[in-house]
Amino acid sequence: MEFDLSMTDELLATTRAVRKRLDLDRQVPREVINECLELAVQAPTASNSQTWHWIVVDDAQKREAIAAQYRSGQGAILAEAKEAAAQRGDAQTTRVYEGAVWLSENLHRVPVFVIPCVQGRPPEDAPPIVLSSLYGSIMPATWSFQLALRSRGLGSTLTTLHLLREREVAEIIGIPGDFLQVALLPVAYTKGTDFKRAARPPVSKITHWNDW
Ligand SMILES: Cc1cc2nc3c(=O)[nH]c(=O)nc-3n(C[C@H](O)[C@H](O)[C@H](O)COP(=O)(O)O)c2cc1C
Repeated sequence: MEFDLSMTDELLATTRAVRKRLDLDRQVPREVINECLELAVQAPTASNSQTWHWIVVDDAQKREAIAAQYRSGQGAILAEAKEAAAQRGDAQTTRVYEGAVWLSENLHRVPVFVIPCVQGRPPEDAPPIVLSSLYGSIMPATWSFQLALRSRGLGSTLTTLHLLREREVAEIIGIPGDFLQVALLPVAYTKGTDFKRAARPPVSKITHWNDW
């Protein structure tokens, strides 16, 4: 079987962090989330550990409670970062923070949250191999999930700000203490599907062949 590269490349190149273009009024069927999770768990894990769990929150009260933690935990971080980006004339990052502030204020309106979790908690002095193995056993699957969403007309943003209130959020949805939340993905259908490539520095500047 040969892949249609025009399709797979487009998927890889245009899966953006979607915030303001999330359709807050369209319901997301549970089957679609399940379908995307079935694809996500094909991702690699260290030692084939597969110690992931996924919490899907579509209950309005719980989303409200989690969104309140997300908002209050980040305080003025986003507004300050947006201001700093604007001051240094970085238009792309200013737009990112504008979107992030909007998401923070509207998170409770997004129909589904998905919180990827992995079993284990790194000790404070964890060596790089422990950290890479732990986070590396859940982030690839998280990205696969986002790609699967995009290919079905849905979108999301990988967010981590709620982790400033990790314990409080764990209590709201009953996450056991030995599971680490790694992100919160607000999921919805997108308004239109015409997302674009982002500006990135040339790969030649950040690629090193045989020697740094
Ligand atoms: C590890 C990580 C943490 C992130 N945390 C947040 C977050 O807390 N809130 C948010 O709105 N976006 C968050 N983002 C999304 C980034 O802002 C976004 O991916 C980046 O601006 C690039 O945009 P693009 O994904 O459309 O290329 C996060 C992304 C990553 C990879």
